[in-house]
Amino acid sequence: MSRSAFGHVLNVDDARRAAARRLPRGLFEYIDRGSEDETSIAANRRRLDAIRLAPSVLVDVSRRSLEAEILGHRQPLPLAIAPTAVAGLVWHDGEIALARAAAAAGIPFCVSTQSITPIERIAAESGARLWFQLYVWKNRQRTLALLDRARAAGAETLVLTVDTAVTPNREYNLRNGFGIPLQASVRAGIDLMLHPRWTASVMLRSLIASGVPTYAHYPEEFRTRLGRLALSDELALATDVTWDDVRLLRQRWKGRLVLKGVLRVDDALTALSHGVDAIVVSNHGGRNLDCAPGPTEVLPAIVEAISDRMEILADSGVRRGADIARFLALGASGVLIGRATLYGVAIGGADGAGRVLDLLRHELEVTMGMLGAPGLDALRRCLNKTPAAGPCTPSSGSTDHRLPTNCASAGSI
Ligand SMILES: Cc1cc2nc3c(=O)[nH]c(=O)nc-3n(C[C@H](O)[C@H](O)[C@H](O)COP(=O)(O)O)c2cc1C
Repeated sequence: MSRSAFGHVLNVDDARRAAARRLPRGLFEYIDRGSEDETSIAANRRRLDAIRLAPSVLVDVSRRSLEAEILGHRQPLPLAIAPTAVAGLVWHDGEIALARAAAAAGIPFCVSTQSITPIERIAAESGARLWFQLYVWKNRQRTLALLDRARAAGAETLVLTVDTAVTPNREYNLRNGFGIPLQASVRAGIDLMLHPRWTASVMLRSLIASGVPTYAHYPEEFRTRLGRLALSDELALATDVTWDDVRLLRQRWKGRLVLKGVLRVDDALTALSHGVDAIVVSNHGGRNLDCAPGPTEVLPAIVEAISDRMEILADSGVRRGADIARFLALGASGVLIGRATLYGVAIGGADGAGRVLDLLRHELEVTMGMLGAPGLDALRRCLNKTPAAGPCTPSSGSTDHRLPTNCASAGSI
């Protein structure tokens, strides 16, 4: 499938609608939805929309650079593809497809602990720069062995996810019966029959190639031929992960260490004191704690408190290039993309994910042109600091993104 096959996909929402048609309902809902009453997803969108960026006029924008430096690498876009569990169910070898799209765009791909494809294959078949996302297992020795495996496969950065202390409450997955290991049921059978393209091109193909999909990073002895996880709970996600684990990981992991899912200034400062290289300010795309604040609400205070001593990335809710611009304007130095590229990969593998990245790149470029921002740094000056009530002085020409207290701001939405 070539990228020109996606000419009708003009934005991420188009890709989402096409993915909804193609994927079985249980799988689509797993990707698309949130937790409990799903207020967090809606609030992420509202908060992003409420951030207005004010253009500087009469600026030469004939040359615009989207180049960014993230974790010591210069790259053509300020993006990384976020870790997403079971992306290999969305498309045959979906994780490899996502990694190839990332490689083509010159951005890193973050492999999830709960990937269907092992990191060794993703590395060998994509040529992408890889990060590895870690969920800590109850058995710490096995967790450390997994780290060594990820490092040996070429992962340059370890991303410890810290916002999933317990299993999130996702009622729709109980209703639609979706879960790993996959369960046979009449409802699942009907879902498969209603989505024959996915059933043939992903499920049957995977069954023939390698059997029932399962988590590829579990040690071999913990998987059975039926793809069911072993009864032992050694590999259950630990609920007692603390800063002691961060200390241990910092000693063990020689590459960059990132904490993903930080939403508080005090936690960001503690991360800094533990030698963490970066945090991702994220509410997991509204999939975990339904009453969590949105990253845009907390980002300004975290950026101010950290004050360039640690890198700050962000994610949750990006559907347009303007959303990327919004996160950067609030002080993030890079943005992770979760569902948007998953929708893309669902409709066309690496080309579909590439199409979504192309769209986001184009939208960001247009937004920057409109804003009078020839480079990403200039976005920090574009936060609209003109309040509905009362004047405020824009920090003209300055890169200070801190928000005057008298201004309508992203932090007070
Ligand atoms: C289907 C799906 C699976 C995910 N799996 C993981 C995971 O295994 N580890 C993790 O740290 N985050 C996971 N996330 C969260 C993403 O890394 C990211 O934080 C989130 O998707 C960003 O929001 P967005 O989807 O609105 O871009 C997952 C997200 C989705 C949509």
